[in-house]
Amino acid sequence: ESEVPSCITRKVSQYSCQRKTTLNNYNKKFTDAFEIMAENYEFKENEIFCLEFLRAASLLKYLPFPVTRMKDIQGLPCIGDQVRDVIEEIIEEGESSRVKEVLNDERYKAFKQFTSVFGVGVKTSEKWYRMGLRTVEELKADKTLKLSKMQKAGFLYYEDLVSCVSKAEADAVTLIVKNTVSTFLPDALVTITGGFRRGKKMGHDIDFLITNPGPREDDELLHKVVDLWKKQGLLLYCDIIESTFVEEQLPSRKVDAMDNFQKCFTILKLYQPGVDNSSYNTSKKSDMAEIKDWKAIRVDLVITPFEQYAYALLGWTGSREFGRDLRRYASHERKMILDNHGLYDRRKRIFLKAGSEEEIFAHLGLDYVEPWERNA
Ligand code: CTP
Ligand code: MN
Ligand code: MN
Ligand code: MN
Repeated sequence: ESEVPSCITRKVSQYSCQRKTTLNNYNKKFTDAFEIMAENYEFKENEIFCLEFLRAASLLKYLPFPVTRMKDIQGLPCIGDQVRDVIEEIIEEGESSRVKEVLNDERYKAFKQFTSVFGVGVKTSEKWYRMGLRTVEELKADKTLKLSKMQKAGFLYYEDLVSCVSKAEADAVTLIVKNTVSTFLPDALVTITGGFRRGKKMGHDIDFLITNPGPREDDELLHKVVDLWKKQGLLLYCDIIESTFVEEQLPSRKVDAMDNFQKCFTILKLYQPGVDNSSYNTSKKSDMAEIKDWKAIRVDLVITPFEQYAYALLGWTGSREFGRDLRRYASHERKMILDNHGLYDRRKRIFLKAGSEEEIFAHLGLDYVEPWERNA
């Protein structure tokens, strides 16, 4: 019987930013199970156990072979006792009783449904669960619930938003965003980030970074863009967050901190080229059910000053796990603080400038990892 070469297990770093993780996952059976466990702990607000399973999932996504025996994971980092137990069950039984228990759990099932609504997080889910609510249908039917503007949009476009965004749809939206931005700022740089930049063929939203090379900044750009979409009837929802960035302020040390860029969470109306209402031209027009020829799509727009663009790009490209480990690596291994705005060297007491992602990896003493290798 073959041993896993020690050159694979021995050198594996506990930090996903020191590993190359493509979308080619040999251990989906395990990583799906871990992600369900992590989500259940997230719903219980147990961050430590949640992270334990997410880190293990990242590690198994990296392994260049399918795990079939306990020996395969010997000497690897990020495998705690709970994780080991789930792996053992899946190897022996083909499935995990713990994961099955979670999938059948009333609270997990309700939270899973509730949090699938745009604008609904764990706190709101908790409240609704305590009120005895269990399904999205029940939420929709309950006219007494006090909903935020975001949640109202979440229910209104629920079916479209839970169905994933395809690469083709992302490309179509990219054209719209680039065209609109360039009418106001012809030199502006628009870059798709998030999962699509990592090469994913599907996503739950589309993320864009916008920056204007040179000194000129335009605080009004985002407002102009959404105003135009509003006029064109393309804007289904929009929430603009103004920039709260303070110069000279140290980067946030929180591992999951929001950044301070001006940004906008939107829902756009994307017309589907396949659906054509005009072909349903019957003589009895009143009988004709209207065909919906568009899809609601979640789009995030982030505006960054040009000097911070590389840091913003690194942060918004993700994956979330990869970003978390970059920040953890920076502070634990380099005495530096990294966030979406910059990198601060605590020993030298200076901010390190970077014009590209490659330079940021170099500042951290890390080998460069391409975006499609950041699918941790
Ligand atoms: N991100 C961030 N600050 C935020 C929101 C997101 O830095 N306020 C980062 C996340 O950490 C993530 C990336 O931006 O790495 C994209 O976020 P998101 O759209 O949630 O995830 P994706 O990886 O794009 O996956 P999905 O297909 O689910 O959208
Ligand atoms: Mn995304
Ligand atoms: Mn996401
Ligand atoms: Mn997003």
